[in-house]
Amino acid sequence: MGNSGFLATLLLPTLLCVHLFGGSVNGLGVNWGTMATHKLPTETVVKMLKDNGIKKVKLFDADSNTMGALAGSDLEVMVAIPNDQLLAMNSYDRAKEWVKKNITLYNFKGGVNIKYVAVGNEPFLQTYNGSFVNTTFPALQNIQNALNDAGVGDTIKVTVPLNADVYNSPESNPVPSAGRFRTDISRPMSQIVDLLAKNGAPFTVNIYPFLSLYGNDEFPFNYAFFDGGNPIVDNKIQYTNVFDANFDTLVSALKAVGHGSMPIIIGEVGWPTDGDKNANMANAQRFYNGLLPRLAANTGTPLRPGYIEVYLFGLIDEDAKSIAPGNFERHWGIFRYDGQPKFPIDLSGQNQTKFLIGAKDVKYLKQQWCMFNPNAKNIGKLLVDNINYACTFSDCTALGFGSSCNGLDANGNASYAFNMYYQVQNQKDTACSFQGENLVSAAEPNQSPIRRYICQQIKKIG
Ligand SMILES: *[C@@H]1O[C@H](CO)[C@@H](O)[C@H](O)[C@H]1NC(C)=O
Ligand SMILES: *[C@@H]1O[C@H](CO)[C@@H](O)[C@H](O)[C@H]1NC(C)=O
Ligand SMILES: *[C@@H]1O[C@H](CO)[C@@H](O)[C@H](O)[C@H]1NC(C)=O
Ligand SMILES: *[C@@H]1O[C@H](CO)[C@@H](O)[C@H](O)[C@H]1NC(C)=O
Ligand SMILES: *[C@@H]1O[C@H](CO)[C@@H](O)[C@H](O)[C@H]1NC(C)=O
Repeated sequence: MGNSGFLATLLLPTLLCVHLFGGSVNGLGVNWGTMATHKLPTETVVKMLKDNGIKKVKLFDADSNTMGALAGSDLEVMVAIPNDQLLAMNSYDRAKEWVKKNITLYNFKGGVNIKYVAVGNEPFLQTYNGSFVNTTFPALQNIQNALNDAGVGDTIKVTVPLNADVYNSPESNPVPSAGRFRTDISRPMSQIVDLLAKNGAPFTVNIYPFLSLYGNDEFPFNYAFFDGGNPIVDNKIQYTNVFDANFDTLVSALKAVGHGSMPIIIGEVGWPTDGDKNANMANAQRFYNGLLPRLAANTGTPLRPGYIEVYLFGLIDEDAKSIAPGNFERHWGIFRYDGQPKFPIDLSGQNQTKFLIGAKDVKYLKQQWCMFNPNAKNIGKLLVDNINYACTFSDCTALGFGSSCNGLDANGNASYAFNMYYQVQNQKDTACSFQGENLVSAAEPNQSPIRRYICQQIKKIG
């Protein structure tokens, strides 16, 4: 890994064939998000998936480069329609057009093995203020009808990945059996669930024990993991982790609307590694060390023992994701931004200490970086402005409280910010020009300044 911080814009796809090894929990999928300033080539990512025995992938769109790379791979794919296209899909003609261009086009031998179409992504999230409440169901219905018309409705099913905030337990009785859908969305939820049932399609939910902890210091820490939280008891059933309790709250909510045995997919579950005091490698490892063996053993939950279809979130860090939900948003990957493994994770669920197989032939930018000039005179407000500017257009989430680079001094913060901006801008000369406060340094400390460790590098240089 003797390389510098950022991927070059042009990366060579690898053409080498390597034997499959590793293997993963039966049916395990991952989410492949692409909100990154420097994306790996799609062929490289598909090879990473195959090298690690991953058989299913969930996308957030139907990007033609991604679909092209998936063609012929045999990977099972969930494609998606983003929220901002839901309104358009309320027109049946547009829905038919979408299906023609993004489904039928790839539906041939050696094409893309599409299994699901995700219509919207957490459209009923409370922070969206109801923006998609009226457009999600008609879009879902149109897409399913268009799939049926195209003759693929038997094998390709629609679903709506929803956040777990679509259901809740009454405050007075916060147990899974009290789970009900939120009253403000009860009508669209019933419509959606009825349509899914009619078409033999699954309910998709994203469950995040990390978010139960985030910003809630009262939450019992161990209950977010799988190795011994204080149990809560519900109708004589003991719940020892919030994942099971959350899942069974959904089972109860479905039962209350007459669909207690509807298949449920976990669209996203995972743990971030930076950007919050609880987001780190050790906690991520502990979480996956609990989750994956349970999936391998088909443990299921108290109300639904057995196999659960699960998509981990996520595959690769995304340094351009919105941080409105929190700084951790850019650090969900089981791989770093450059496709290298972060921490030991055994996707087969055998709980061995092993690393994922990283991306091959990754091209990096030159080993040079931009840093604060300690002799700069005009410090003060200008420096603050420059740091804000650099961080607005790059990723400084590792600097915050509880994050991996927290605790740098003011000069260190400035160097970190200037360098991130410089790398995001592909080391353009003009991107290391902050009114005399900066200098490009090729002076290399012992180790290469891989981005994640750059705070240590900055500390070393002083
Ligand atoms: C197909 O999907 C892509 C990517 O999500 C989208 O940009 C495009 O508009 C879709 N095509 C049609 C005809 O809707
Ligand atoms: C939702 O409403 C809040 C408060 O009114 C506002 O701050 C926020 O920007 C709104 N969000 C969206 C997505 O409209
Ligand atoms: C959704 O429809 C309801 C009932 O027709 C209406 O009151 C509400 O304003 C609509 N919401 C949006 C975001 O358009
Ligand atoms: C997996 O191994 C770790 C130690 O490496 C241990 O703490 C954890 O309990 C194990 N998980 C299971 C499910 O056996
Ligand atoms: C460095 O930046 C972080 C994140 O913005 C901030 O919390 C911290 O106070 C800064 N440190 C100094 C010494 O200014």
